[in-house]
Amino acid sequence: MAVIGSDLQKAKQLLEQNNVVAIPTETVYGLAANALNSEAITKIFIAKDRPFFDPLIVHVADLTTAYDYVEYIPSSAKKLADSFWPGPLTLLLKKKAIIPHLATSGLDTVGIRCPNHPVTLQLLKMLPFPLAAPSANPFGYISPTKAIHVNEQLGNKIDYILDGGECKVGIESTIVGFENNTPTIYRMGGLSVEQIESVIGTVQIEINSSSNPTAPGQLKSHYAPQKKLFFGNVQTIRESDVGILAFKEPSKFIPLQNQRILSPSGNLEEAAQNLFSFLRELDHLNIKSIVAEQVPNKGLGRAINDRLTRAATQ
Ligand code: TXA
Ligand code: MG
Repeated sequence: MAVIGSDLQKAKQLLEQNNVVAIPTETVYGLAANALNSEAITKIFIAKDRPFFDPLIVHVADLTTAYDYVEYIPSSAKKLADSFWPGPLTLLLKKKAIIPHLATSGLDTVGIRCPNHPVTLQLLKMLPFPLAAPSANPFGYISPTKAIHVNEQLGNKIDYILDGGECKVGIESTIVGFENNTPTIYRMGGLSVEQIESVIGTVQIEINSSSNPTAPGQLKSHYAPQKKLFFGNVQTIRESDVGILAFKEPSKFIPLQNQRILSPSGNLEEAAQNLFSFLRELDHLNIKSIVAEQVPNKGLGRAINDRLTRAATQ
């Protein structure tokens, strides 16, 4: 198993030696390495068993540092960064040559984000390079929102997990690109469409689920637990071997230990924060399958419904 700790010097040293370290962010834990070094980046892909065609997000300490790695920042991107960085927002921008092709899977854009977590912001400020970091889960599985989740799945492949407590947002960053100067959302995430539109006006939304996506996070079968997950009306379930993931209301017909309620008060931020850890808990229970219900399709609810749709058995 990996060591879970809060030793920033140790994390720095490992990263300087081109090793991977799991890091906390406000969205989910990431599996980080020196984004300017291909050998270090390769270790991320191998630890995650991630296909090399799926590009990584590069994390920076602030907007000023981002300018070192991208050719230019369109004005709408700059407005978003000014409003929401540090935060759950990834911008797809034209990369400078210093970012290796391996990090971007050969694309000429790089996904770049400044995460809103004090531990990782401090680490980034201590390092002379940015950190490439995908979510710290095996490819295709649910993203980790606690250090222990990382250890459960990648503990035998990495040495160190920097502990930053439970992730506050709980769902990955929203990805926005600017092709043809048209702001476009490619992945729903921890920053809502409404928040983005309040700053730059109406945006295009292109959430594909094709086999050749612009952002492979769009792949349909993704973010999935091992148990079969179905969308449905949880109040109609009567089987004792089915677990339910409800939004607000528990069911009277299912044993309570087989139920998880995302937010009893109906708060979508709370629901997002609980989503992945509750899915993991249900995945570990002695049940055959999971039925999840849709949450209201607004604010973070759109990202929650997106992840549940991708996790659902087709
Ligand atoms: O919240 C997050 O974004 C977390 C934390 C650790 O920062 N990271 C994360 O990384 O979710 P990952 O690798 O699990 O998902 C990143 C997504 C992938 O679907 C990838 O295809 C897409 O971002 N992506 C990265 N760079 C891209 C690019 N240049 N063009 C299109 N999509 C890109
Ligand atoms: Mg991921």
